[in-house]
Amino acid sequence: MAILKIARMGHPVLRQVAEPVQDPTAPQVHALIRNMIETMRDADGAGLAAPQVHVPRRVVIFHVPEDRAGETEESAPTPLTVLINPVIEPLTEETELGWEGCLSVPGLLGAVPRFTNIRYSGFAPDGSRVERVAEDFHARVVQHECDHLDGILYLQRMTDMSLLVFQEELRHGPPEAMREPTEEETEPV
Ligand code: NI
Repeated sequence: MAILKIARMGHPVLRQVAEPVQDPTAPQVHALIRNMIETMRDADGAGLAAPQVHVPRRVVIFHVPEDRAGETEESAPTPLTVLINPVIEPLTEETELGWEGCLSVPGLLGAVPRFTNIRYSGFAPDGSRVERVAEDFHARVVQHECDHLDGILYLQRMTDMSLLVFQEELRHGPPEAMREPTEEETEPV
């Protein structure tokens, strides 16, 4: 296993549309996934997409920790999930602003509108199909990671750039339109 270098905003790999994975069970795909998991854990992230480690393939990993879970089944804590060739379908037009950070944009946090309720599907590393409905942070992290596969960073989804801040400066207080992020909300994805 290896900890991989994380690409930062400005690197072309983060602007690229990633290629689908032909065989989710291929050994090189499993090796990539193992290294992505190690890299995400080392960086204290809650999610990671393959382009962030310079691999333009449609693979994302994420989890929903206890402290970011909601009350419903769709927003419950979710163990580490690997999604290959994921597809998202919004189940509502409703969006919600929430704080996001990204391992490829270190130090910054932004308030990003995301669909509150989605269905997502894809493949697990054993080739089986995954299909779930997700709400709240669970829906947010999947939308953030899948955007990476289309070359989109969270800043491009922001509608109010006054809500883009350096995390360190938040000690002076959050922008008026947003409450202060919890410690968990500062975990990059
Ligand atoms: Ni990210």
